[in-house]
Amino acid sequence: MKLEVNSARLQKLSTDLLVIILDRELQLSTIEDPELLGLLKSLGKDFEEKIVKKEYFSRWTGGIKHVLVFHTALNTSYNIWERIKIYASRAVSWGSDLNLKEVTFLLNGADAPTYFGKVVEGVIIGSYAFERYKIEKNKYLGEAKISLVTSDAGRAVCRKKFERYALVSNAVNECREIVNEPGCAVYPEVLGNLAKQIGKQHGLKVTVLDEKELEKGGYTGLSGVGRGSAHPPRLISLEYKAPKKSSVRLALVGKGITFDTGGISIKPADKMLEMKGDMAGGAAVLYAMKAIAQLKPAINVVGIIPSAENTPDANAQRPGDIFTAKNGKSVQVDNTDAEGRLVLIDGFARAGELAATHLVDIATLTGAVVRALGQGYAGIMGNHPGLIQAVIRSGNNHGENFWQLPLPEEYKELLKTPYADINNVGGPNGGAITAGLFLQEFLPEKTAWAHLDIAGPFLFDKPWKHYAAGATGFGLKTFVDLCERFGEYFPAQQP
Ligand code: BES
Ligand code: MG
Ligand code: ZN
Repeated sequence: MKLEVNSARLQKLSTDLLVIILDRELQLSTIEDPELLGLLKSLGKDFEEKIVKKEYFSRWTGGIKHVLVFHTALNTSYNIWERIKIYASRAVSWGSDLNLKEVTFLLNGADAPTYFGKVVEGVIIGSYAFERYKIEKNKYLGEAKISLVTSDAGRAVCRKKFERYALVSNAVNECREIVNEPGCAVYPEVLGNLAKQIGKQHGLKVTVLDEKELEKGGYTGLSGVGRGSAHPPRLISLEYKAPKKSSVRLALVGKGITFDTGGISIKPADKMLEMKGDMAGGAAVLYAMKAIAQLKPAINVVGIIPSAENTPDANAQRPGDIFTAKNGKSVQVDNTDAEGRLVLIDGFARAGELAATHLVDIATLTGAVVRALGQGYAGIMGNHPGLIQAVIRSGNNHGENFWQLPLPEEYKELLKTPYADINNVGGPNGGAITAGLFLQEFLPEKTAWAHLDIAGPFLFDKPWKHYAAGATGFGLKTFVDLCERFGEYFPAQQP
């Protein structure tokens, strides 16, 4: 797909499909072309009614062959930012369905620069499909030319937005691709190699600890979970250094379980295939680091991905097994399917070793969070209200919703066991919260922490907003925004 920014005059425009987005308050398009204005007016006084009822599509003659009009009143389920992305992706699928090779968005209005990036995202994220294993692929996207027409005045701002949003949206699609890949194709070693490749390309320092180094280093949680698999575990880290000195070192720790059968506490067959995406948190971290390396925010960032395959085997960890974590606490593995928290705590230890000041972890951690919030919201918990609010705000900027759950002291009782310092499960109720409380016991000292449980929105089995069915790359956009705005959120932290 060719995607470009233009500032052609509407009168001189020649395109197969012209796309206009209308809103009652915002001016996104300026229609100075008398013919086009005539067409819109010819719809009569119920013009708005008509397009409010449905997308208005018209065949036409002349330089512009078809016109597609959206009105934001059409779909009130989401905020305007999200609706614009949905329209942009709908427009590309109209183009694809009717095989209209040139698609032009008219974004020359006074308010357009503010929304320009969202159109870019809608086009790029909206046209992604997982096609690797199909004989028949969508040829249209390879041949299509999509232009975004700006006013002369808005051009410079729009170009900047274009570059930033294209870069992040492409990272989201790359992330979705490896989450959609099956467990036979993506296993810990593959993630490690991807990290090395990204590091080499974009100047990040990458370290990948293999199974022997993990044993030697005492990363017992990760070693234990990975013990049953033919694909041994890895602990991956990618370090980004800020251009100028910064006192902040933000660790992003992502769960990288490349397949979660549940282990000896095996899961039922129904929907087990979704567990090929149990590395969605790790993938969001990996590709956020790729975007961060290119966007160069002002804080130091380190991405950490503890990665393993959780599977039963004669050598696998058993229910009731006890190990001692890096911080000295003994853990009873009551249920081998609560493996995410066991690998994350070694990610936390690694963050401590790398001197993180702030830690945000992201994981497809519990079915319980999906029971509580449904698929549209990720759960967020933590020990630092400012950091939690910062993540929520960054998420809101990009259509990634987080809802805070509490971490009450009294629920710590639920993690008690007669046999060890802590149990890895907390019983049938409040599962997302007891998982958060478990993690909290393994935080490095004096670290501001937020925990994101993305088991709901990481994957949809039907299309969602501008996303095709499958992985969403959830969390990546939030991370990039958080790094970009860190100084705005925490002015005192910046030198
Ligand atoms: N990866 C799963 C959680 C999950 C479930 C993610 C559904 C995405 C969709 C996690 O490892 C798991 O198995 N959690 C258990 C924990 C339980 C044993 C305490 C769960 O949620 O059932
Ligand atoms: Mg599990
Ligand atoms: Zn899991």
